[in-house]
Formats: sequence, structure tokens, C-alpha cells
Amino acid sequence: HTLPPYSSHTSISSSSPNKETRCGRCNPCDDKRHKDIWSKEKTCDRLPKFMVVGPQKTGTTALYLFLLMHPSISSNFPSPKTYEEVQFFNTNSYHKGIDWYMEFFPVPSNVSTDFLFEKTAALLPKAKIITLLINPSDRAYSWYQHQRAHEDHAALKFTFYDVISAKAGAPSELRSLQNRCLLPGLYSTHLERWLTYYPPNQVMIIDGHQLRSDPASVMDEVQKFLGVTPHYNYSQALTFDPQKGFWCQLLEGGKTKCLGKSKGRKYPPMEPEARVYLSRYYREHNVELSKLLHRLGQPLPSWLREELQKVS
Ligand code: A3P
Repeated sequence: HTLPPYSSHTSISSSSPNKETRCGRCNPCDDKRHKDIWSKEKTCDRLPKFMVVGPQKTGTTALYLFLLMHPSISSNFPSPKTYEEVQFFNTNSYHKGIDWYMEFFPVPSNVSTDFLFEKTAALLPKAKIITLLINPSDRAYSWYQHQRAHEDHAALKFTFYDVISAKAGAPSELRSLQNRCLLPGLYSTHLERWLTYYPPNQVMIIDGHQLRSDPASVMDEVQKFLGVTPHYNYSQALTFDPQKGFWCQLLEGGKTKCLGKSKGRKYPPMEPEARVYLSRYYREHNVELSKLLHRLGQPLPSWLREELQKVS
């Protein structure tokens, strides 16, 4: 096992695939010689068929909840130490080997119809990759609010505008917060890395704002992309909860099951100065993202169109 561990799982970049991933040596399931000498009890079908990757605050938890509502889709058992994500590939757990990783997944009862998935980055060349993108400016603001809610010292001390506009000579805690706030939004750079290792037809890019406003039609697209059966009717299974202000799972008896308080927080809208600053900051990257999506034949999310129309 010689793969370098990944530093963190919070951004697309840090969970990007590594050159070694294509080698058969790395995964016994990809190499017939290794597979043949594997114990009969082990099955390569116990690995995820798809992954949801991407930075924090783009709506990954909502997508996760919606995916789990599907009768054929199951995920890794919650990991006691890492909360939701198994984090096999980016920690010392990599040395525990593929058996350890597989233990997190249920044994599928029907290999061809059951879809295992994980909400994090793993290195499985045949897996499909789903990624959510929201306007990087909104992502940065949501992330800042998340840090404040977690009582991050610098996030409480500095305004959002201070964070995004900090210059080279600023205090290191501010600069560090700034990097973690802004860099995950450089989507084109991160996506290019994924596309070095995964062919475009294995990659689905979802507009996170659309998932928020119209999850049923997004989930229809997701089902098509995955080729998962039977078709699940999300427009019947989801309902807009006016109190929460978000779409939630409709339970029997008319009750709703929404995501917890930490998802869909209430906070004041972003100040116009910050919005202008960030639109400029991300402008070039958004242009690159639009070229990338064009090359892939994927439609541009409406937030991207709007950003491109702004004159700097
Ligand atoms: P905010 O709390 O800033 O509004 P993640 O799960 O990747 O951390 O993303 C959290 C974000 O998901 C929330 O950020 C919220 O805007 C968005 N979201 C999208 N659909 C949602 C839903 N149905 N319920 C709650 N949050 C949702």
C-alpha cells in the first residue's frame, strides 16, 4: 500500500483521485490473478457502485437522504468514528486494507439491482461519480455560517467580508479560514482532476440550487444516470415543508422528515459588497467551468449563466 493519504475530505480537490488508482495492483477486485486467490467469503460486489463527491455545503446531505429513500439504494453503515463518511482513502485506515473498508457495506441481496454507495471519495475506477455544484459565492457564505455555528474562533471574530477579502499580510488564522472558505469553490480545477481518471459518461454534475428547489426532477435524472430500478417516484415521496423552508421526506400519516437543524440554517442574506467581491473572485474560474461543461455537453446551471452575465 503506497498511496499517499489524502489530507482531508472536505473539498473536491483533497478527495481527488490519485494516479495510482487505475492500477490493478491497488484493488484485488480489478486484478483477475488476485481475485482468483481471494477467499470465497469475500465478494467484490460489496464495494460502492457510485459515489457522491464534492465540497461541504453544496447539498450533499439532502442528496444522501433522498438516495437512501430509494428501495434499491443502500449506503455504508455509519462509521462510529467518522460520523457519516468512512474515510478509507484519506486516512491511516487505508493501511487496514480493503476488507476493513468492505465491512462498512451491507452484503447486497441482489448484486445486479442493489446499489451501494458512499458519500465520499473512494478510488473505484468503474464507479459512477455524482457531484453537486452551487454558486461558489453562496457555498463560501454557507460555509462561513457553518463555521460560526461551530464557534470557530476566527469566524466569530471576523466578518464574512473580512474573511473573503483578507490580504497576504493578514493574521494566519484569518488566512487559513479564507483558504478553507474560498478554495473548494474553484470547481473547474477540482473537476478537471476527477476527469483525468473518470470518463465523462461516468460523471454527473448536478445543480445544487435545483436540488434544493426541485428535488423530484433532479432525482429522476439521477436514477436515469445510475440506471437504477425500479423507478422511484420522488414527487410523491417528497413534500415542501413551509416551516423548514426545504423539501423533506413525506412520511405515512402526513408527517415530514426533514434534515436536522444544521442543514438549511437561517441566517441573514449575504451583503451586496461581499457578493460583488466574490463574483469577481470566482469570475475566471466560472468561465473555465462553463468551458468544461460545454466540452462535456452538459447544460450550464442557471447560477452559472447569471454569473457569466455579470460585468466585472
Ligand atoms: P445552509 O444550511 O447554508 O442553507 P451539505 O449537506 O453539503 O453540508 O449542504 C448543506 C446545504 O444543503 C444547506 O446549506 C442547504 O442550503 C442545502 N439543502 C439543499 N436541499 C436541502 C434540504 N432539502 N434540506 C436542508 N438543506 C438542504
